[in-house]
Amino acid sequence: MPYLKCGFVSVPSRKLSLQGKPVVPNSDAQHASPTAATPFLQIQQVVKKFDDVFAVNEFTLDIQKGEIFALLGSSGCGKSTLLRMLAGFEVPTSGKILLAGQDIVGLAPYERPINMMFQSYALFPHLTVWDNIAFGLRRDGMPKPEIAIRVEQMLDLVQLKAYAKRKPHQLSGGQQQRVALARSLAKRPKLLLLDEPLGALDAKLRQQTQLELVDIIHQVGVTCVMVTHDQEEAMTMATRIGVMSEGRILQVAAPDEIYETPNCRFVADFIGSVNLFKGTVEVDAPDHVVIGGPECQHYVSHGITGTPGMAVHVAVRPEKMVIQHTAPLEEDRESAAEVGFNVVQGAIEHLAYLGNLTTYHVRLDVGSLVKVTHTNAARHTTTVLSVGDRVFVWWFGSDVVVLTR
Ligand SMILES: Nc1ncnc2c1ncn2[C@@H]1O[C@H](COP(=O)(O)OP(=O)(O)OP(=O)(O)O)[C@@H](O)[C@H]1O
Ligand SMILES: [Mg+2]
Repeated sequence: MPYLKCGFVSVPSRKLSLQGKPVVPNSDAQHASPTAATPFLQIQQVVKKFDDVFAVNEFTLDIQKGEIFALLGSSGCGKSTLLRMLAGFEVPTSGKILLAGQDIVGLAPYERPINMMFQSYALFPHLTVWDNIAFGLRRDGMPKPEIAIRVEQMLDLVQLKAYAKRKPHQLSGGQQQRVALARSLAKRPKLLLLDEPLGALDAKLRQQTQLELVDIIHQVGVTCVMVTHDQEEAMTMATRIGVMSEGRILQVAAPDEIYETPNCRFVADFIGSVNLFKGTVEVDAPDHVVIGGPECQHYVSHGITGTPGMAVHVAVRPEKMVIQHTAPLEEDRESAAEVGFNVVQGAIEHLAYLGNLTTYHVRLDVGSLVKVTHTNAARHTTTVLSVGDRVFVWWFGSDVVVLTR
């Protein structure tokens, strides 16, 4: 059977307890690593209004020392504004920002142990790499011998010793990016803010530089808040991700958790791709839930915080679905209880072969569209699915997330 579930990951049980729980944004945002006592950075109910527009609204978040935290959200959701308030370039309309327990809202940017690296990292074109890195240290009046030691350390860190005498235009995009990082770290900030740090790089270089950047940040041990609209970048680099929409933070979690157990439709849809089925809770047992909907009866093999009659959305990731010509066999299902549930039928409307995977758009008989991805792990397949084919699409009850908002 060639179209077996490839790339299937069963959801670890620790995550199931979170599934389907309606999470209040702020309580979720405050959930931080249980190991640390006082969070290094505390953002408390911060609001920033530009005229009548709330660029940032009731934003609460704790960040631990040494974390790489990524703020992810679509254009205009307030990411840069939040970062600019942390750096001191904008003053919050209300709310508190504490760094190591100290309120920093009243401090000027240069009084904060914080450095911000902007998207256009603006290296001085007429200065060498060495002088670019030394620039801020000289301006602060650091003695020459100390500057020399610090710059050499930074060159070592970003592995650009051999390039010290070059000007920025003689470097690749990735190398320029590393100079900018070295310059940001030269003054040994306690908090490093990165606004779209790799925005200027092409896709391949971006991926490589993401990992280099993480290594450097970990070596230095600096706490880092980065802003990006690229979810892959956030997932590659960050220990935790906060998803923002319209100035508010909707969910804060580790990359795998935010992908596997999004807490609302916006997050489910924003991170990766998802099939959302409308439904109504019919059976609400402690260990399973049955949800009726126009596409099919849904069997969810874990409990949710809900009540019969409640309107919900059932979210299923495309890679967790199986697509095949024939109806699923009973022995292929996760449990006997699921037989007759979580199966839809339709015809393949579009198919895209992407090399590592194939995506299918299946028009269901009830009219809605389902997206299924199949990982092309085997070089050859014996069964070929083609546009127009009638197919069954089915999934496990443990791969379902029930969303109440
Ligand atoms: N100085 C300003 N004056 C007025 N409005 C502003 C100002 N700066 C930002 N805004 C508004 O605040 C909102 C948030 O802007 P912000 O730059 O923080 O978004 P962003 O999430 O960084 O977006 P992008 O991904 O496009 O960089 C937008 O509606 C923007 O127009
Ligand atoms: Mg921005």
